[in-house]
Amino acid sequence: MKFFIDTADLNEIREAARLGLIDGVTTNPSLVAKTGRKYLDVVREICEVVDGPISAEVLSTDYDGMMAEARAWAKVHRNVVVKLPLTLEGLRATRTCKQEGTRTNVTLCFSANQALLAAKAGASFISPFVGRLDDASEDGMNLIEDIVTIYKNYGFKTEVLVASVRHPVHVMQAALLGADVCTIPYKVIEQLAKHPLTDVGLAKFIEDSKKIPR
Ligand code: G3P
Repeated sequence: MKFFIDTADLNEIREAARLGLIDGVTTNPSLVAKTGRKYLDVVREICEVVDGPISAEVLSTDYDGMMAEARAWAKVHRNVVVKLPLTLEGLRATRTCKQEGTRTNVTLCFSANQALLAAKAGASFISPFVGRLDDASEDGMNLIEDIVTIYKNYGFKTEVLVASVRHPVHVMQAALLGADVCTIPYKVIEQLAKHPLTDVGLAKFIEDSKKIPR
């Protein structure tokens, strides 16, 4: 399973890249707004740090506006993947991007039928939001299971990108279900490596190592 980092914070991206733990980056307007910087500047800088798919979202909601933005994003860097909303207009734009050779990440997916449409439109990635489904008293991971099954049934090439990840169990479940990618906030990446028994065990090894004759 590939790991993307879900942030627009360059410090977090640099640190995760330094650790060698990430294969790509996903951004969205809410994450970029937190930086106080221009979206284009942020994406350009990310492209200098990470050599992998970097999702940059369109802000328009109509087909012509989305396509104008998608074409502009595609010119920024070969690694930019255009993020489009899961609407009828977004699906139409997804198909055009596919025809033009631009990779897409269809976002805001909350149902298996939406994911089916995105795959039929030729999306490179589908982003089901598991955390937000959990927040609405549904089990987000059931959706991942359904999408993985449907894509397998028909041999769709669209990669399942588990998004809206809130905790390490989401990551583990995504891996168990065979999702292609998990996009993870920096805090959760850190949590993945932690276990209290690792800390206790390491402290004991360090203490005992002092007793080894030098
Ligand atoms: O990038 C989309 C997604 O990961 C958003 O997560 O936590 O805002 O639901 P969240």
